[in-house]
Amino acid sequence: MTSKSYFKIAFILGLIFVCTNAQEKVFNVHSYGAKADGRTDNSKAFLNGWRDVCKWNGKATLLIPLGEYVVNGAVFKGPCNGWDKTFEMRGVIKAPIDPKVFCNEYWILFKYIDGLKIKGHGTFDGQGACAWGKHQCATLPYTVGFYFMNNFIVHDIHSINSKGVHMNIFSCSYGYFRHIKISAPDESPNTDGIRIGNSNNIRIVDSNIGTGDDCIAMVAGSQSINITRVTCGPGHGISIGSLGKLTKNDVVKDIHIKNCTFINTQNGVRLKTWALSMNGMATNIAFEDIIMIKSSNPIIIDQQYCPSGNCKKQGSLVQVKDVTYKNIRGSSSSKVAVILKCSASRPCKGIIFKDIDLVYNGPATSSYCEHAIGKAIGIQLPPSCLI
Ligand SMILES: *[C@@H]1O[C@H](CO)[C@@H](O)[C@H](O)[C@H]1NC(C)=O
Ligand SMILES: *[C@@H]1O[C@H](CO)[C@@H](O)[C@H](O)[C@H]1NC(C)=O
Repeated sequence: MTSKSYFKIAFILGLIFVCTNAQEKVFNVHSYGAKADGRTDNSKAFLNGWRDVCKWNGKATLLIPLGEYVVNGAVFKGPCNGWDKTFEMRGVIKAPIDPKVFCNEYWILFKYIDGLKIKGHGTFDGQGACAWGKHQCATLPYTVGFYFMNNFIVHDIHSINSKGVHMNIFSCSYGYFRHIKISAPDESPNTDGIRIGNSNNIRIVDSNIGTGDDCIAMVAGSQSINITRVTCGPGHGISIGSLGKLTKNDVVKDIHIKNCTFINTQNGVRLKTWALSMNGMATNIAFEDIIMIKSSNPIIIDQQYCPSGNCKKQGSLVQVKDVTYKNIRGSSSSKVAVILKCSASRPCKGIIFKDIDLVYNGPATSSYCEHAIGKAIGIQLPPSCLI
């Protein structure tokens, strides 16, 4: 063979190598010095690995193998080169115990990344126990934040014992959460499971959430959110709101909550607005095929929310409209299984109750209504008080 044809073969092999490389590449955090010893701060190693994943021209994965990795805090940022990036966590990522190490909004943040996939059966361990109920930070950090993300998938991920909220979704579109397991003790304060705000087209399916606060909370700007086959408990249930506290025109709309089960929760499905003079809207909301097991307030709308007690009795100006409760059954642990405390200045409209069957261990359940307009169809236990 001439040296010229050697050169040709080398060139072709090189081309093949470059092309395969351009298709897929795994960056292991161990190559960046990460140590799974449960002590070393691996923030730098993880971020250096992520930088290379993000820069890679094509499909790339940041691999976190089995083991326990302490990370003091990290922001995984885009935009990246291409869409096909994966954060594959097989191990446990542990927060430092002392929250003062990262008195921040968040502990781990994913930001401005399109098309990210997070998977791997790994765990975010917020190590919150020492921080709960203490005030070392102004607010305790979220375990994971998703900010300004589009078309992302998070599946087979655990989050345990966050210091504050477990997962916070803010200004995102098209997020799909599947097989998510979130747990913190019943008595851990403010450990919401998943909080959604200013985001649209978010789906949460086949997941299990038990915390000391809301399992899922949808706050202002939540739109087109579907929650399907989620088991909630312990916790405060699935909440919309609170709306109308600090800003005008809080809107939550197009929410579908289907086939969910609530076990020993303080509330089941709750909608909450502050008794303040901020206008806003919560509309086109459907709760369907829901099972309650000893929930204390299975169905509740509270537009007179004012825990601080200084709302001067003004009614909420958030309009609650077109809310459907269909096929909600099981047991209530309190006698008043349905509470609809709507606003005198903006009564709830278009409320539909269809086939409600909630029993109580003792006298028959009852319902309580204020300014709630709508209609009841089919079985009504407790008897409906809609007007
Ligand atoms: C949510 O469910 C409704 C009703 O099943 C469906 O029309 C809508 O497209 C779904 N939205 C998302 C974001 O999945
Ligand atoms: C919800 O549950 C009902 C009855 O248990 C079942 O027929 C239906 O297929 C389920 N739907 C979804 C979306 O899981």
